[in-house]
Amino acid sequence: MADTRTATLIIDGKSYDLPMRSPTAGPDVVDIGKLYAQAGVFTHDPGFTSTSSCDSSITFIDGDKGELLHRGYPIDQLAEKSHFLEVCYLLLYGELPSSTELETFEHTITHHTMIHEQMHNFFRGFRRDAHPMATMVGVVGAMSAFYHDSTDVNDPRQREIASHRLIAKMPTIAAMAYKYSIGQPFVYPRNDIDYAANFLRMCFAVPAEEYKVDPVLARAMDRIFTLHADHEQNASTSTVRLASSSGANPFACIAAGIACLWGPAHGGANQACLEMLREIGSTNRIPEFIERAKDKNDPFRLMGFGHRVYKNFDPRAKVMKQSADEVLDLLGIENNPTLQVAKELERIALEDEYFIEKKLYPNVDFYSGIILDAMGFPTSMFTPIFAVARTVGWVSQWKEMIADPALKIGRPRQLYTGATTRDYVEIENR
Ligand code: CMC
Repeated sequence: MADTRTATLIIDGKSYDLPMRSPTAGPDVVDIGKLYAQAGVFTHDPGFTSTSSCDSSITFIDGDKGELLHRGYPIDQLAEKSHFLEVCYLLLYGELPSSTELETFEHTITHHTMIHEQMHNFFRGFRRDAHPMATMVGVVGAMSAFYHDSTDVNDPRQREIASHRLIAKMPTIAAMAYKYSIGQPFVYPRNDIDYAANFLRMCFAVPAEEYKVDPVLARAMDRIFTLHADHEQNASTSTVRLASSSGANPFACIAAGIACLWGPAHGGANQACLEMLREIGSTNRIPEFIERAKDKNDPFRLMGFGHRVYKNFDPRAKVMKQSADEVLDLLGIENNPTLQVAKELERIALEDEYFIEKKLYPNVDFYSGIILDAMGFPTSMFTPIFAVARTVGWVSQWKEMIADPALKIGRPRQLYTGATTRDYVEIENR
């Protein structure tokens, strides 16, 4: 039944009735789409703290309850019972696959993992010391120059192929960026091992010897991918949506998402967090860093703490912490100084009045860095791994948006604070 409720806005004594809409979960929204036409005013919400930007049926977060649902399924159940490619199918198509559907999907993704051989030359154009995220932004953007047959966004079949290519090739691209940075030969993907194991192999194998992927590490890698797969309208996803709203091709739009993810307030936090733990160095220096985080005049923040939406706990962090324990146990890592600092920092921050009052809890990036470090990844690879996992989220949200007949180019307004009209002044008169 159509929602007939309205919200009334009074401006200078004149009332405007604004339609309200109810979601299946989460707060109601006031639709202000016609406000400017009716009242000649804009709304103002930098950072989108109270503004919904689209209709979406993919992912739902309840920040107060610490709940994350993909197509209705809780993330902890997916992390425990499912695996990354099944979650990819769920995000892309809306339902869990039957066994035949899953088999076909896995076969399709596996058989798209190789990249065009000429793209190898593209990697070689970068400096060896380039950050792998810089390389990924370039190479993923360049996919539009290699896969012309999947750039027409108006063709549903081309959109489908582009989605599969992006999910399949992203681990290959991330692993190649890493291999290039350490001067080792690229390792081609294999069709006889799964997505996560393939990624570990492409990162850590060398042609000189056999490489066997440890199943516990492959499972941990798969879980990291699953936990990062989608997170509704976060900064990088909103970037992908905004870029695609102009009709730009999917590879260019996902490259824009990767660029946004790189920042330390978003996906770059996992690298920044581990670097912070190393900088703290020993547990006796923790109070100094806690004081800095609380000091209003110091821009320093405890990386891996806090979240725009989660104000209770980050459900991904809960699973990630358990996974970190399993991996460290397997690898026999107990007295690593970074780990000791992490454990003590977590304990102190969770008891500290400042962090309790501001609802700052360890987020997913706090624990993922610890696992990836233990697996042997350098910190510069942490954010590329996040990008590999988030690709399915970007792609699913992109597909949802493009298929929406109500699609409009995204074009925010502004509250202008600059000079009003003035006449040009000749240079000799300035
Ligand atoms: N350390 C110290 N103080 C903090 C922190 C922190 N990590 N995070 C927030 N605060 C304080 C902040 O100073 C502010 O205080 P006040 O109200 O006195 O001005 C208050 O808490 C609210 O902060 P905010 O910046 O208004 O909150 P936000 O929702 O805009 O920011 C955040 C969310 C994730 C950007 C922020 O918490 C942060 O910078 N955390 C560190 C970076 C990080 O770990 N990011 C990864 C997020 S999870 C993965 C992902 O989504 O990419």
